[in-house]
Amino acid sequence: MSTLHVIDHPLIQHKLTYIRDKHTGTKEFRELVDEVSTLMAFEITRDMPLEEIEIETPVCKAKSKILSGKKIGIVPILRAGLGMVDGVRKLIPAAKVGHVGLYRDPKTLTPVEYYIKLPSDVEERDFIIVDPMLATGGSAVDAIQSLKQRGAKNIKFMCLIASPEGVKAVQRAHPDVDIYTAALDEKLNEQGYIVPGLGDAGDRLFGTK
Ligand code: PRP
Ligand code: URA
Repeated sequence: MSTLHVIDHPLIQHKLTYIRDKHTGTKEFRELVDEVSTLMAFEITRDMPLEEIEIETPVCKAKSKILSGKKIGIVPILRAGLGMVDGVRKLIPAAKVGHVGLYRDPKTLTPVEYYIKLPSDVEERDFIIVDPMLATGGSAVDAIQSLKQRGAKNIKFMCLIASPEGVKAVQRAHPDVDIYTAALDEKLNEQGYIVPGLGDAGDRLFGTK
């Protein structure tokens, strides 16, 4: 079974409160999502492999550790996932970025895939799929499936807010994929929105609607 990691660091929780607040405007919302993404990336990269090299400090020769160069791919689910990419890239600047385009049909709430572009060496990379919202889980389940169909073997899913329903859906469909979230909210409403949530992440990021 995949693990659910709720990253409840005080800085993240503080910023998430302002992200949730409906009075927070587009500019500040975008900046806060970017900052929280960076803070979460710190935790999501905790298991990155290291290797030992020899260096010379001004004092003596020493053995010290560096990242062993595992290739990473970041894949935002369009459109709202785009708001998390730069924040993660600040910590993993060498990561390549793929894109999966999905939108939820407003009537059926099922995801419709309209675009996919991944780095060519999919099989050699570890992937972090990013999307602020894990609601019914339909978009995440489909995005993970799309990556797996193209050869991805090691995938993590990172969001800001998850619902219990979304977590269950991902864990059932993809028990090998760990979920990282800043908050696990109470439930979904009849329109498939997370309660209390933050509203429509895409609209709040891009100032639409
Ligand atoms: C939102 C969100 C997720 C999806 C989550 O995207 O960014 O991708 O809904 O819902 P689910 O877990 O029920 O699938 P939306 O469909 O609103 O598209 P957008 O990012 O283009 O606004
Ligand atoms: N997508 C969003 O943007 N917000 C929700 O609450 C659910 C899905």
